[in-house]
Amino acid sequence: MPIIAPSILAADFANLQTDITLINESAADWIHVDVMDGVFVPNISFGMPVIKAIKKHAKKPLDVHLMIVQPERYLEEFKEVGADILTVHLEASTHLHRTIQQIKALGMKAGVAINPHTSVSLLKEIAADIDLVCMMSVNPGFGGQKFIENTYAKTAELAALLKTTKSSAKIEIDGGVNLDNAAKLLAAGAEVLVAGNFVFTAANPKDVVQRLKSLN
Ligand code: DX5
Ligand code: ZN
Repeated sequence: MPIIAPSILAADFANLQTDITLINESAADWIHVDVMDGVFVPNISFGMPVIKAIKKHAKKPLDVHLMIVQPERYLEEFKEVGADILTVHLEASTHLHRTIQQIKALGMKAGVAINPHTSVSLLKEIAADIDLVCMMSVNPGFGGQKFIENTYAKTAELAALLKTTKSSAKIEIDGGVNLDNAAKLLAAGAEVLVAGNFVFTAANPKDVVQRLKSLN
């Protein structure tokens, strides 16, 4: 059974508590939290005060995806506001190994995200040290974008790399995930599915989460 992580970016920000309660009551496993700085990506989402407010109501782990430059500047702050899993972008981290060690030393699970153009081979030396690879299946910055088809091949390639490096990292797919592509992603080796718009624009979001969760 896959891990399902609804993305709060697609929630109603004026009614966040309602949407967090909805996730709490659903079959979802994690809450995906997208932080954008307007520099690494061409959009700004939210920061520490909002994550702190989400944490107050969340009954599931916070899977925090940092789309920010120099993420190493804020690791402690993200821990303090309630991140359980902290993911930094490979493209934004000059000293990625050190950053990963610091995230783990702070007691969080450590993830690395890669953009659609980034080769999975660049993860070879870090794979054994991380808990999660967030494979972007859209260009990061916005919810509601179209899924990039090359992700299936990349997922299979990453699954093979994780095996050869004896890594226990889970493969998370982020962007444009829906019931048309989810089964094929899981077959290619994905274990975590992030879904924003597909969940929150649905007439019955809990039902959508349950349907994703029921896939093999
Ligand atoms: C994109 C974000 C995604 C986004 C997914 O930059 O990292 O997590 O919220 O949203 P959907 O599922 O709508 O593509
Ligand atoms: Zn994300």
